[in-house]
Amino acid sequence: MGLHILILNGPNLNWLGRREPGIYGSTSWPEIQAELEEYAAARGVTITCRQSNHEGVLIDILQEGADVFDAVVLNAGGLTHTSVALRDCVAALPVPVVEVHLSNVYAREEFRHRSLLAPVVAGQISGFGPLSYRLGLEAAIALAEKRKRR
Ligand code: DQA
Repeated sequence: MGLHILILNGPNLNWLGRREPGIYGSTSWPEIQAELEEYAAARGVTITCRQSNHEGVLIDILQEGADVFDAVVLNAGGLTHTSVALRDCVAALPVPVVEVHLSNVYAREEFRHRSLLAPVVAGQISGFGPLSYRLGLEAAIALAEKRKRR
């Protein structure tokens, strides 16, 4: 069976393209998603893309997907820096999670330098704009393949 990967976006990422374009660029999420779908199809991988502005909904999506997906690419937005509950959920997941950010969070305000997720994810990709998602997907595919071979 082929790999199935969840790409999950948190608060405000539905506004990509119109949201602080100087920081996040002018590409909308549907455009990024279309590119990711094309890339995934070429790699023989299925992706599901979800977004919520609500912490609890993100946790529900992750819990419900725990036995469905082989890996997760997660951009938790601002919750990256604040959410113990999301971190606890990620820590409990049986599948690898790759943390991604469009912006380089370490080149921005100090409150973005701390990710509560970083210690419980497989790794982090930050600063490459929309490319962060493709790099994150590539990492997720590699981790999921490795896990399946075990
Ligand atoms: C972000 C960085 C976060 O600090 C911010 O709150 C976001 C987006 C990024 O993709 O660069 O909402 O996760």
